[in-house]
Amino acid sequence: MKNVIILGSQWGDEGKGKVVDLFSERFDIVARFQGGHNAGHTVYIGERKYVLKLIPSGLLRPGKQAVIGNGLVIDPAALLSEIDTLEAAGVAVTGNLYISNRAHVLLPIHRLMEKMSEGRPGRVSIGTTSRGIGPCYEDKIARRGIRVCDLLDRETFRAQYDLLMREKVAIARALDIYEELDLAGIRAQYEEFAERIRPMVRDTAVLLHQAMRDGKTVLFEGAQGTMLDIDHGTYPFVTSSSASAGGACTGTGVPPTRISGVIGVAKAYITRVGSGPFPTETPGEECERIRRRGNEYGAVTGRPRRCGWFDAPLLRYTAAINGFDSLVITKLDVLDEFDSIPVCVAYKLGNREIRELPPEAADVQRIEPVYECLPGWKSSTFGATCYDNLPSRAKEYLAFLEEHTGVEAGSISTGPERNQTIVRPGSRLEKLLA
Ligand code: IMP
Repeated sequence: MKNVIILGSQWGDEGKGKVVDLFSERFDIVARFQGGHNAGHTVYIGERKYVLKLIPSGLLRPGKQAVIGNGLVIDPAALLSEIDTLEAAGVAVTGNLYISNRAHVLLPIHRLMEKMSEGRPGRVSIGTTSRGIGPCYEDKIARRGIRVCDLLDRETFRAQYDLLMREKVAIARALDIYEELDLAGIRAQYEEFAERIRPMVRDTAVLLHQAMRDGKTVLFEGAQGTMLDIDHGTYPFVTSSSASAGGACTGTGVPPTRISGVIGVAKAYITRVGSGPFPTETPGEECERIRRRGNEYGAVTGRPRRCGWFDAPLLRYTAAINGFDSLVITKLDVLDEFDSIPVCVAYKLGNREIRELPPEAADVQRIEPVYECLPGWKSSTFGATCYDNLPSRAKEYLAFLEEHTGVEAGSISTGPERNQTIVRPGSRLEKLLA
């Protein structure tokens, strides 16, 4: 049995796209389990850059199969446009991609509802990706959502869609935010989408169970990051799905007993897009330097990412929530030129030193990081493929992160290409991938 979860251990954008693409070579199937087209996984293969939003990045490898699990919310227009782009680039999507019949369908009205919650006076603005993700999950939890299996049944879809639209339009009108939508035109368009996705729709839980019985292996690909998880993240500044390890089971129907390991992806520093507390955020020139060297702009929205220093207590927290066996540390090379590199080892809340993240957003906003500064290595690690050849201060930096997070750094990513990666011999990560 080799079924492994890979997910983000910070606020997303840790570089999971490349890592999943690279490690998917060792698995038969790659499965996404939550989120929607708010995610943006950037993968570079040779000269080509791919930004994947809904389709698991493992699909870029010939012969691999991919699953979009029941835990996702799917905008069919976004999905079909991604499929068309990939197929035009020569990637075989049809025949290799399976979509859960229990995933939820995202509609244009969800974007309108999101405008309401994000823009209205008095509401806390989360700084979302404006894709309608939250409102679609709201409908799911409120048990009025439309699922892919409903979309495929014309009569069911029409009845559910018309009822949902009546409710939404009434709410939008009452709040004076209604913008004219061609509701009948959208319904007809979704009926066309249904026919295009129909051949790919399956009971993907059954498909995965059968695949596992046949001895196939599955890599579960998280989107966003644990600190954006609806339960465990910096609520309310989170996304609306379960972005941590538990979500891999609920979002695919694969039981926890079939999971053999969990790998966390962490940047050698940390970033966040959107609003919300960020204890180790560094303002001004330092942030600019990291952003410039790390090209820290959102893959989906293009927004500049907020940048800061590695937060070890935060990582200890996400390691505990997810049960990380190993970490992949990405973008080490971004720190190559810094004279010294602060790492947060604890927090101060008022006069008290605390080691755990408090649950209230206001307290997370107030805590101050306690830093230890490590000397920079001031030489290039870009493209390194062998751990022993890293500058000794870079190795000390990684050892420090291991000591303060309690998790091994089993792999280090030193550039965007597949081959710019170190997998440490003898690590738990190496064994999980073997
Ligand atoms: P939503 O997922 O669009 O509802 O946005 C909620 C929060 O999650 C916002 O702070 C977004 O910036 C953040 N977010 C959503 N998707 C991603 C992602 O793929 N990477 C980083 N942040 C994300």
